[in-house]
This record gives sequence, structure tokens and C-alpha cells, in this order.
Amino acid sequence: MSDGLENVVAAETVLSEVDGLAGRLVIRGRSLDDLAGRATFEDVVQLLFDGFYVDLPADVAPALGAARVDVFAQVAVLDAGLLALDPVEAMRALTARLPDGDDLSTALRLLAAPAVFIPAVVRAGQGLAPVAPDATVTHSADILRMLRGAAPTAEEARALDAYLVTVSDHGLNASTFAARVIASTRAGLTSAVLGGISALKGPLHGGAPGPVIEMLDAIGTPGHARAWLEQALDSGERLMGFGHRIYKVRDPRADALKGAVRRLTQGSNVAPGRLAFAEAVERAALDILRERKPDRSLQTNVEFYTALLLEALAFPPAAFTGVFAMGRVAGWLAHAREQLAGGRLIRPQSVYVGPAPRRAA
Ligand code: COA
Repeated sequence: MSDGLENVVAAETVLSEVDGLAGRLVIRGRSLDDLAGRATFEDVVQLLFDGFYVDLPADVAPALGAARVDVFAQVAVLDAGLLALDPVEAMRALTARLPDGDDLSTALRLLAAPAVFIPAVVRAGQGLAPVAPDATVTHSADILRMLRGAAPTAEEARALDAYLVTVSDHGLNASTFAARVIASTRAGLTSAVLGGISALKGPLHGGAPGPVIEMLDAIGTPGHARAWLEQALDSGERLMGFGHRIYKVRDPRADALKGAVRRLTQGSNVAPGRLAFAEAVERAALDILRERKPDRSLQTNVEFYTALLLEALAFPPAAFTGVFAMGRVAGWLAHAREQLAGGRLIRPQSVYVGPAPRRAA
């Protein structure tokens, strides 16, 4: 048995390849370096969905815009009970109201759901009215518009595109595996995506970037980094934004996102010194992890610079996991259809290690 299914191959996929030794990510035949900063979210949806949704239009943008408008109706049910939840949980509850199915229109609504619900939940939490989608602008520009109530700059929309593209798919990560297991039962795409969201929200998966901001805020200045990090490790904590099951070298997504943060520093989004401070904390963390775990290769993962990028785009840390879902939902939906095309129910075995049956007295 392999603990945590490490090194177990559980699917064949044409969607993405994660090369953990070379530090390389390929999404449908395109390297991440080639995509991030160039492709839009719509481009990567087109790439991932191609061949899996027979009626996929040559340009998915208008249909995705219409789907944003369609799902916005669900926002009307946002009440105090939903707002008491974590934003990703409120978004999951709203998504659960969407009908199940396995066709393109179900998939488009699911692509639109986190993009529309997370801004509405954030605004409602701030006592602000939701902003209705605009089907005529790009997905990323509309997300930022719905979050802030004003159109973003082209540079900001490009930065969000870079993020959504970077996290759109990543092999058989925990949430994608969960989505594929559910899809294999033929439960439908909505069920598969709800399973994906549920797996994503854990701190060992997509829940890490919010805590990265808490860590940076608690450290405060570069001079405090080493002492703070040492103390966190002494008390048995993990350093959020570091370590990965597959990557034994630096996660290529970290640099793709750091590049997007750097481009935003040329505008007014990143406070002077914020990036340099984060880099200093990263260096200290890598030094300490190397000293403490010399036999492990614990490197920076995607979540560290995700935190800085989403902070620069004015998403509150509590919403970061929901923004991750806006990108990863494209991968879940492509994997779910790939699983359906392959056909078989995923049903592994367990080894019973409990007590032998006893006779009733
Ligand atoms: N900080 C401190 N120690 C860490 C660590 C981190 N971020 N990540 C791994 N380790 C240590 C573990 O404590 C363990 O040490 P041990 O062998 O002495 O017990 C060892 O490295 C291996 O950990 P394990 O949990 O088996 O590795 P994994 O492959 O299951 O872990 C993660 C992958 C991502 C869950 C793990 O690195 C982690 O928890 N990182 C922090 C959360 C995070 O950033 N998540 C986002 C992932 S993209």
C-alpha cells in the first residue's frame, strides 16, 4: 500500500503533465512559461475543453459571459446564514443550487459560478450590494469589476488571467482526483465540481494562500523572519506556501506568479517593498527548511506568490481559496469529461486491519 497514494498512477490524461524533477508544467501540449502572461482564461478553457465538449464554440467567451449572467440569479438567496460561512463555503452552497448534468451548458454555468459568487459574497460581507456581470468583457476583467464595482486596468485583468491560467490544471491533484472519482459514478458535473471545491478548501491543498498573508503580517519585517519561522516550526506548524508532493525542485508556478506580481509593481497595486519583503521571508524559510529537513527538498510552492498576487488585486485573504477555484474549475470540468469518456467506475480496494469477527454471546 502507498501512503497517500504517493507514486500511484490512477489515470491517463491528455490534459496536463507535472514533471516534479524538472520543475515543469505542460497544459495540453503548451508549457506554462508559454501560457502564463499570454493566454486568457478563455484561451485555456478552449484548450482544456477541446474534444471533450462536442458543441464547444470556436470562441467560448460570449457563452461564458452569458453563463455569468445566468448564474447571477442565485446571488438573490445570499442570506445571513450563508454569509456566516467562509466565502468558499458560501460559494459552494450557491453552486450546489445549480442543476446537475454533463453537457456544455452545465459546464459553462459551473465555470461561471465561483467567478460570480465569490465577488458577491465578498461584497455582501462588506455590506455592499452585488454587482451584476457584464457578458461583454473578459472573464478576468468581469471578476475584478464584480469585486470592486469599477472596471480594472488592463494590467490588472492580465494579472488575474495569468493567475487563473497558471492554476487551471495540475495533473491528479487531490481536488481533481476527487472530481474524477465523482464523475466516474456518473453523478454529473455539478456533483464533481462540488467535490473538487470541498477537497480544494483544505489547508494542505488550496487553503494555504490566506495563511501565507497571515504569516507575512505576523512576521512584519525581514529582520523578524528567521525567529518567527523557527518558532512556528518548533511548535509543530508547517510553513504555508512551501513543500509539494510532486515537485522536488521549485514549483514553476511560483515564478510565473512572481513575474505577474512584479509586473503589477510597475502600477500602483503592490505597496513599495512588499515584494522584496516577501522574497526575504521566502529566502529565510528556504534556508531553515534546508537546515531542518536536509533529506527533504522543500521548495516554494504556488501558494506563496498566489497570496501576494491576489492581495495586490484587492481580494481579501478569506476569499483566496475561492479565487483558486475560479481557475481550477476549468481543469475539474475537463477531467470529469475525460473520465466519462474513459468510462469505468473508480473503485479501489482497502486492506482490512480491524479485529476478526467475534461470535455474538
Ligand atoms: N513546512 C514544514 N515542514 C514541511 C512542510 C512545510 N511546508 N511540508 C512538508 N514538510 C515536512 C513534513 O513535516 C514531513 O516531515 P517528516 O518527514 O519529518 O515528518 C515531510 O516534510 C514530508 O511531509 P508530507 O506531509 O509527507 O509531504 P506531502 O507530500 O504529503 O506534503 C504538502 C505536501 C503540500 C501537503 C506539504 O508540503 C505541506 O503541508 N505544505 C504546506 C501547505 C501548503 O503550502 N499547501 C499548498 C500546496 S500547493
